[in-house]
Amino acid sequence: MYRTHTCGELRITNQGNQVTLSGWIQRIRNFGGMTFIDLRDRYGITQLVFDQEKQPELFEKAKKLGREFVLQIKGIVQERSNKNPNLPTGDIELIVNELNILNKSEVPPFTIEDESDGGDELRMKYRYLDLRRNPVKNNLILRHKMAQEIRKYLDGQEFLEVETPVLIKSTPEGARDFVVPSRMNPGEFYALPQSPQVFKQLLMVSGYDRYFQIVKCFRDEDLRADRQPEFTQIDCEMAFVEQEDILQTFEGLTKHLFRTIKGVELNGEFPRMDYQTAMNRYGSDKPDLRFGMEFVELTELTKGYDFPVFESAEYVGGIVAPNCSEYSRKELDQLTKFVQRPQIGAKGLVYVKYGADGSFKSSVDKFYQPEALAKWAEQMQAKPGDLLLVMAGEKKKTLPQLSELRLHMADQLGLRDKKQFAPLWVVDFPLLEFDDETQRYYAMHHPFTAPKPEDIELLAGNPAAVRANAYDLVINGVEIGGGSVRIFDDRLQQEMFTILGFTHEEAQAQFGFLMNAFKYGAPPHAGVAFGFDRLVSLFAGNDSIRDVIAFPKNNAGRDVMIDAPSPIAIDQLDELELRLK
Ligand code: AMO
Repeated sequence: MYRTHTCGELRITNQGNQVTLSGWIQRIRNFGGMTFIDLRDRYGITQLVFDQEKQPELFEKAKKLGREFVLQIKGIVQERSNKNPNLPTGDIELIVNELNILNKSEVPPFTIEDESDGGDELRMKYRYLDLRRNPVKNNLILRHKMAQEIRKYLDGQEFLEVETPVLIKSTPEGARDFVVPSRMNPGEFYALPQSPQVFKQLLMVSGYDRYFQIVKCFRDEDLRADRQPEFTQIDCEMAFVEQEDILQTFEGLTKHLFRTIKGVELNGEFPRMDYQTAMNRYGSDKPDLRFGMEFVELTELTKGYDFPVFESAEYVGGIVAPNCSEYSRKELDQLTKFVQRPQIGAKGLVYVKYGADGSFKSSVDKFYQPEALAKWAEQMQAKPGDLLLVMAGEKKKTLPQLSELRLHMADQLGLRDKKQFAPLWVVDFPLLEFDDETQRYYAMHHPFTAPKPEDIELLAGNPAAVRANAYDLVINGVEIGGGSVRIFDDRLQQEMFTILGFTHEEAQAQFGFLMNAFKYGAPPHAGVAFGFDRLVSLFAGNDSIRDVIAFPKNNAGRDVMIDAPSPIAIDQLDELELRLK
């Protein structure tokens, strides 16, 4: 037997027991005639003692050990004189009477500690060592527990877990597909699924009225902190349901996870906000509701004062930063620079300091007298001591820019507390989105999303005005999940493809199977998918989903540990009948 106990298991009640442990050397400390070694495994750390006087041979052997050596230890549990209340095993230590070196280790390239000295790239290259660190390990344990609770909850609601294929035909979800050449069908390619969307809908046609899957999805898109090229969804679909059933069921799942995993009760129903309101108030379809700072429109109020920027602006609006009227010149310049960064792209920022004494001082004093600024303050419900930050321009561009500023200010003011959770359903998304560049409509969610019945008649004449029965779950400004009620009528589905610019033949070639299936008794259905990595990351309080994925990719989409992607041999290309350009 390699071990009788784990390194996290022994307590004072084991005093006097002869035990066997196996694990890695975390730390070695020498104090004259005594050597202390912390032995670590997945479960914890146990202190080992080597006493020169009592066991000179073992003491000598212990001198040759190094960090991350793998040991098997036999010894007797004794009470520690110097207890460590921060360690579950901190009351005891092991007086070693046998030491077997199971394996040696080279000196690791970074310290295996909670706060490591290794940079990001280095830790990714040696991810198997990084995974030994507590913060990463705890994230994986959390992920596992959440997956178990998800299965428990959904199983309890009669959902069936069904696996769907990974080598498929491309599904249009907005991103690029990863493709896989087929050897047996030269010149033809599979695509990796961006999600199991069409399969889960087909399962509804097949009568499996509650489906779920914790499933890998693949999207070839630009990466960010909350985006990986392969990520995991909690993917679900239900038949004979309306939007309300989905919201209830998955609000239930979310509450279940918060309760069982975090011990947090999310009381009452999650608030709901329609897309247009979210955009107007927060400039974002995923507003962070942990704090206020709602937008207030000032377009009318600011006109007629000969300030050219506002005079010509389609939209003027601002936020109130509470108790910030004392911001210095430098701080205000930094805010202006922040909104002018290329990623945000605003031209400028107007500020009004509403002094605690009731005075007004602004960057547009030349155009606006204190009486005019007082009207802004009144409209924005600002108080003396507040700072008003105002932006202007084309509405479509200014709202998201102001949203970035709002989040930035909240960060500065410490209003985004990771221990607070503000869930929100954003509903009534537009069905379609017009793209100026390609001059055509795209499905805002995906082409299988049903228009609101009352808006269907607008489809032909005014497609942009059509709203969808589509919804997102947002928590703390993160889009955790999204879904929709589906089209289940082959003619309406065909019409959607036409609006999206597919010819009849193209639609048949790509989605004929789905429209055919709809001819054989498709039930009304709807679904949703949660981003599992994002949900775990939110629970863990991490900023990046990379921290909750065992083997993630870097921002260039590379796995630097296994060095992928990488070229393949000419033979392999030949076999696939491929030649590189
Ligand atoms: P959607 O595209 O909104 O919907 O994806 C659902 C959720 O998956 C997460 N997500 C991601 N997480 C990490 N990295 C990515 N690259 C990434 N892309 C998406 C988000 C998102 O809310 N088939 C539909 C669902 C449906 O209609 O039922 C779909 O995939 O949290």
